[in-house]
Amino acid sequence: MSAVKRAISAADPTMTTLDQRYRIANYIDTFALGHYARVLDATDRKASTHVAFKVLRPEHLGGDQPRWEYQAFAHEADLLTALADSPTVVRLLDCGYVEAGGEAPSGGGIESFGTDAAAFRAAQAGFFKRGWRPYLALEPLPRAHNLFYLMRPDRAGLRWRVPTEEGLALALQFAETLKMAHRQGIVYLDHKLEHVYWDGVQLRIIDLNSSRRVEGKSRDTEGLFRQDIHSLCVGILYSMFTGLSPQKTALRPQPGSVTEVEARYQAITALDFGVEPSLSPALQDLIQRGAARQIDTVDDFIDGLQKVAALHGWDFPGQYTNPHNRDARAHLRAGLTKLRKGQDALREARDLFREAAIQDGITDDLDAELRRLVKAVNEMLNTRVIP
Ligand SMILES: Nc1ncnc2c1ncn2[C@@H]1O[C@H](COP(=O)(O)OP(=O)(O)O)[C@@H](O)[C@H]1O
Ligand SMILES: [Mg+2]
Repeated sequence: MSAVKRAISAADPTMTTLDQRYRIANYIDTFALGHYARVLDATDRKASTHVAFKVLRPEHLGGDQPRWEYQAFAHEADLLTALADSPTVVRLLDCGYVEAGGEAPSGGGIESFGTDAAAFRAAQAGFFKRGWRPYLALEPLPRAHNLFYLMRPDRAGLRWRVPTEEGLALALQFAETLKMAHRQGIVYLDHKLEHVYWDGVQLRIIDLNSSRRVEGKSRDTEGLFRQDIHSLCVGILYSMFTGLSPQKTALRPQPGSVTEVEARYQAITALDFGVEPSLSPALQDLIQRGAARQIDTVDDFIDGLQKVAALHGWDFPGQYTNPHNRDARAHLRAGLTKLRKGQDALREARDLFREAAIQDGITDDLDAELRRLVKAVNEMLNTRVIP
């Protein structure tokens, strides 16, 4: 046994085990794997709540010094703490280090730092030497709200888009988040559908380990703020309103290593809205200006969004829409709510047919009818209006 290991086991006979603190269950990241981490559903036994347990992939361990991927956990904890007041940024519930190797941690010790991101960072070098891995316990968000999961087509050639009313609400909430972040010198940078959760009303954003902290005002920092708006327009808003990736392919997960994040949309300055001619020209124009890096600040972007939203029946202080638009928007919103309820009901009906179809002992006649219904409802869901 090495001197370090002996010293630890001797000094810490009452070490908490991972199993005492968390019950680790299934992977919840399989539809959109990250570069840094595996993410698992877990129960915090102390708080009796579910968490999303984000733990360093074992392949990023090793070396004499912690690699960037290792350090990214303390970095993310730090940024999540700085933005803890934001209603959109995912909550950090706990952070620390686990002893277990393997992609899904099992057994071994755990050292938890709660939400003390500074202590978590200060302990990094010591735990790295011991070969322990960093983890973040995050508020778990439902997969069904993940924008990539929602918009990913089931068939080639199929495309979905978010209704303009909801997309505007999402864009405004995202812009407000960037405003708060930019004020603190934080640029998000890692814009992609996989990192966005949307329930029709409230936006949630995950994964800040590729985000950066910048200091002071310079050409560089201004360029990064512009890039943040650019990447929001290119990486999220364009896809959300057209169902296409900005690279003009079908939607697929985007690479996420440190070199890839900032290079991903670098060359894209023009967006093709030809597939979605019904999209409001003013909205197309705004997203295009963002993509062309012609929008310098989030305030300018919010101003642009509000002007577009006013055309869609929204009111803002000092900028009121006319009563006809206001009334039409109220109808539109009520209709969207009904559509969402309708879709939920369709899914529930499909699940009932599907459950019945897999029962043993039913006749071939009943089986065939249930399968026909499952297929027909799936086709209805495939032409749904809302993702
Ligand atoms: N708080 C969360 N709730 C639910 N799922 C999550 C949560 N955080 C991450 N995930 C899932 O895990 C995947 C990878 O997480 P992410 O934070 O992007 O890791 P990485 O830093 O490796 O890119 C996400 O795409 C998402 O599917
Ligand atoms: Mg990610």
